[in-house]
Amino acid sequence: MKFFLDTAELEDIKKYAAWGVVDGVTTNPSLIAKAGVDQETRIKEILEIVDGPISSEVNATDVEGMVEEGRKFGAWHENVFVKLPTTPEGLQACKILRSEGIKVNMTLIFSVSQAVMCAKAGANFVSPFIGRVDDMSQDGMSLIEEMTQVWMNYGFDTEILVASIRHPRHVVDSMRLGADIATMPPKIFDQLMKHPLTDIGLAKFIEDSKKSQA
Ligand code: G3P
Repeated sequence: MKFFLDTAELEDIKKYAAWGVVDGVTTNPSLIAKAGVDQETRIKEILEIVDGPISSEVNATDVEGMVEEGRKFGAWHENVFVKLPTTPEGLQACKILRSEGIKVNMTLIFSVSQAVMCAKAGANFVSPFIGRVDDMSQDGMSLIEEMTQVWMNYGFDTEILVASIRHPRHVVDSMRLGADIATMPPKIFDQLMKHPLTDIGLAKFIEDSKKSQA
């Protein structure tokens, strides 16, 4: 299971990359706007920190515009994955960019049929947004279950990148189902590591080691 950071905040990327567990980074227009930075500058800064797939989302919604932006992003570095919306236009742009060897991450996926369409168009990654499905009082994880089952039936090369993760259990359940990648906000990295019994146990070991050294 690969772990990606879902953020455009450089300090967070540096912090968790130092832990040795960040395999890639995903960004989107909302995260770039929240960080208050220029997209090209920030993506290039991230590329210097993490040696893995870095997703940069197009701002256009028409085929020509998305292809033009995608070619520009792809020329920055081989690790750049062009993030495209899951629309008929996005599918067409995906097909064109993939035929030119540019890597693609299809975003805003909410159904298994959308994911299959993207896989057929040659996407490298498909990004189902499970937290937003949960927000609609539906079950985001059952989407991952359906996708992994269909992937097993047909052996698509496209990797399943679970996005819109809201808590550590989303990550654990995605791993149990065999999804390839989880992209998560920085705080989830802390939550995945934290266990009160580790803290209690360590405090006791420190206390006891002082006694034996006295
Ligand atoms: O990368 C985008 C995705 O993870 C969005 O998450 O929390 O805005 O639904 P969220």
